[in-house]
Amino acid sequence: MAKRVLTTESGAPVADNQNSATAGVGGPILLQDQHLLEKLARFNRERIPERVVHARGSGAYGYFEVTDDVTGFTRADFLSEVGKRTETFLRFSTVADSLGGADAVRDPRGFALKFYTNEGNYDLVGNNTPVFFIKDPIKFPDFIHSQKRDPFTGRQEPDNVWDFWAHAPEATHQVTWLMGDRGIPASYRHMNGYGSHTYQWTNAEGEAFFVKYHFKTNQGVRSLSAEQAAELVGKDANSHQTDLLQAIERGVNPSWTLYVQVMPAAEAADYRFNPFDLTKVWPHADYPLQRVGRLVLDRNPDNVFAEVEQAAFSPNNFVPGIGPSPDKMLQGRLFAYADAHRYRLGVNHTQLPVNAPKATQADNYGRDGLHATRYGSRHDKNYEPNSYAGPTQTDAALGAPLAIHGWTGTYETAAHVKDDDFFQAGELYRLMSEDEKGRLVANIAGGLSQVTRDDVIEKNLAHFHAADADYGKRVEEAVRALRED
Ligand code: HEM
Repeated sequence: MAKRVLTTESGAPVADNQNSATAGVGGPILLQDQHLLEKLARFNRERIPERVVHARGSGAYGYFEVTDDVTGFTRADFLSEVGKRTETFLRFSTVADSLGGADAVRDPRGFALKFYTNEGNYDLVGNNTPVFFIKDPIKFPDFIHSQKRDPFTGRQEPDNVWDFWAHAPEATHQVTWLMGDRGIPASYRHMNGYGSHTYQWTNAEGEAFFVKYHFKTNQGVRSLSAEQAAELVGKDANSHQTDLLQAIERGVNPSWTLYVQVMPAAEAADYRFNPFDLTKVWPHADYPLQRVGRLVLDRNPDNVFAEVEQAAFSPNNFVPGIGPSPDKMLQGRLFAYADAHRYRLGVNHTQLPVNAPKATQADNYGRDGLHATRYGSRHDKNYEPNSYAGPTQTDAALGAPLAIHGWTGTYETAAHVKDDDFFQAGELYRLMSEDEKGRLVANIAGGLSQVTRDDVIEKNLAHFHAADADYGKRVEEAVRALRED
């Protein structure tokens, strides 16, 4: 093999990579040492802003294969035929901590999936939980501030975490989930993924359906107790990354089976729960899981920075046949992500290899900007409409229209007959075995008992009481016992 020559960024050979150029032996360094200047300057610029949430993550490529016919519900091409395969990239993440945080912590996990379809990239940016803490995007920055490090102490503070929840009764369902057995997954391979929001599917006849996505892990759900997690963090802070990387390197490719719950659009208005409320699930008895296909991860990225850190997922990257529902949280996210990417990665982040479409090409009149690498040919016009052969619109709607009624204003999410902030949290509690209930109560009490203000503790206790009398009583007793210690 030919010997590779070390070069500068401009391709010139480097004579010495061990000694900088000086004015004589022992003299000061010369400004003309281009290789040294470039090397130091380049090093200073290696980091980019970390994601404001979900900073820490791991990614892998794979494919999605359709196993069941869902053409009655959507005309998305990548779901159009049993056996059809589409290349994918999945980034898992923790949420609250910064890039250097540990993996095995009690926190939701991100499950962000990019399908490189031949109708453009479809991004499904979900979590490992079917619900979320809040139902209006206007609360999101406050929520995240309360869960991340305090601006004064520089630590995550139980006072802030629980004070937010004291003011957010709608979080009780997700808090019950997070403090329960699934709150610390054993690895990214051993957890489910959920789209969480309700999305709209439209079939070839123009009929609309509302759907929820469930990716069930084929590795089995496995979780860690608080004690096991603390021990693992001490041994390997990167335990999820290690597990995913090594499994795929060994050829033990993790997979998930995708199911959807499907609601005909006409049923949404009268369903007992508001189907667009992200703090609620649709019980499977109402809308059973229907199998769609299989997701397999089979290739580690070659470069973590290029492909995982620079990966950009946007919930507004839809393909024909799949679109948003009126869920307010989802609507907020349709703005937030691409905006975050323009800040973090720049306006041309969609041209980076991990983000660019693979099965089709972007072809439009968007131009230039920092680090543009996509050019048309010398004959392309940069305006539209034009009299030349530039790309033109299809005139085919991407999905069915959403019905809108009412006046503009700031409203609370509409409550349907069975909606309140606590019923589904209570249902989740009542589903748990006696042992699970015990661990849930201990986890909640462990955090809540560290809160310094009694009124914040009382407000939180009231939420657990409202969810289920036994749940409230047990959390209250456990918190009192720990505070009397
Ligand atoms: C209004 C509510 C929300 C807002 C404003 C919001 C905003 C953001 C922002 C700004 C990022 C960083 C993006 C980047 O820099 O690449 C992010 C990441 C992420 N969010 Fe959200 N988020 C919200 C709710 C949710 C919900 C409900 C889910 C899951 C169902 C979710 C899942 C994720 C995931 C998985 C990532 C990491 C994506 C990746 O791996 O690059 N977020 N979010």
